[in-house]
Amino acid sequence: MNGPILVFGAAGQLGQEVMAFAEARGIGAIGYNRAKADITDFASVKAAILAVKPRLVLNAAAYTAVDRAETEPEAAFAANAAGAETVARAAALQQVPVIQTSTDYVFAGTKRGAYVETDPIAPLGVYGQTKAAGEAMVRHANPRHFILRTAWVYGRFGANFLKTILRLSREREELRIVADQHGCPTATQDLAEAVFAIDRALARGIEAPGTYHFAGDGATTWHGFASAIVEAEAQATGRRPKVSPIATADYPTAALRPANSELDSGLFASVFGYRARDWQTRARETVAMLLKETRAET
Ligand SMILES: NC(=O)c1ccc[n+]([C@@H]2O[C@H](COP(=O)([O-])OP(=O)(O)OC[C@H]3O[C@@H](n4cnc5c(N)ncnc54)[C@H](OP(=O)(O)O)[C@@H]3O)[C@@H](O)[C@H]2O)c1
Repeated sequence: MNGPILVFGAAGQLGQEVMAFAEARGIGAIGYNRAKADITDFASVKAAILAVKPRLVLNAAAYTAVDRAETEPEAAFAANAAGAETVARAAALQQVPVIQTSTDYVFAGTKRGAYVETDPIAPLGVYGQTKAAGEAMVRHANPRHFILRTAWVYGRFGANFLKTILRLSREREELRIVADQHGCPTATQDLAEAVFAIDRALARGIEAPGTYHFAGDGATTWHGFASAIVEAEAQATGRRPKVSPIATADYPTAALRPANSELDSGLFASVFGYRARDWQTRARETVAMLLKETRAET
């Protein structure tokens, strides 16, 4: 099929990045935000697919409030599990492949070293449980599925950790950041590239459905990530608040998080020929881009 890529969740961090990249590069893509298609509503999802006639569907829509999910499990399940299934099933009815974005939080975090796709899942919280249920339902609903587990997503659009650190670094002299959770910060730029890499593979006739890990290259802690963000900002502004390491126990949250959710993205690189840049480079680039935007606005 020669139609565009259809993006559900087009107003989210990833959705906006994919739409912006597609426009800049002349890649056909149509974005549907929640107002245009609620993924919990089969009729609206099906109507979108029939109207757009896409070559590929990206489900970037999700309930991503990890802590709030603990008290709103039904809402989280509706979007992350039933909604994911709805998108995958509606795409399957038209024989359209689907990319379902998932998360490192499907893992318990007890492994030493990076998680590979065949490692057993054991989510610690409601968010991870609903995303894991979504994965299983997508596998069942659409044989042409690409489940893309990613992690610690940040970019120029939406709300994310990098933006929060930039804001706090202007407001505070000291930031106290968790230093005993390990993971892979992933730029939306790289995630968007991963989506286009799958699209290119499909165009070449490579059918490799399955579950893939895709995250920024290298791993760190939230403290390491925050330190790199503050340092990148300091290069431009000279302002350098102290970034102090704390333990998870010192920063209690409603949802438990894995102590180690490093993802091995090697399988994705070998099948689709794309590997994310190292997380430090992308973090520096994103800080520079956001500072430039702020300067342009003032
Ligand atoms: N953010 C992370 O650190 C992270 C880490 C690992 C994996 N992921 C996964 O990566 C994917 C993209 O995440 P993201 O960071 O881009 O998320 P995001 O910025 O929170 O965007 C999610 C989007 O989905 C929309 N949405 C929620 N429920 C919907 C529904 N029922 N119908 C239609 N749209 C709906 C939201 O709209 P509203 O604003 O109206 O709610 C929002 O625009 C998700 O699958 C997420 O689970 C994210």
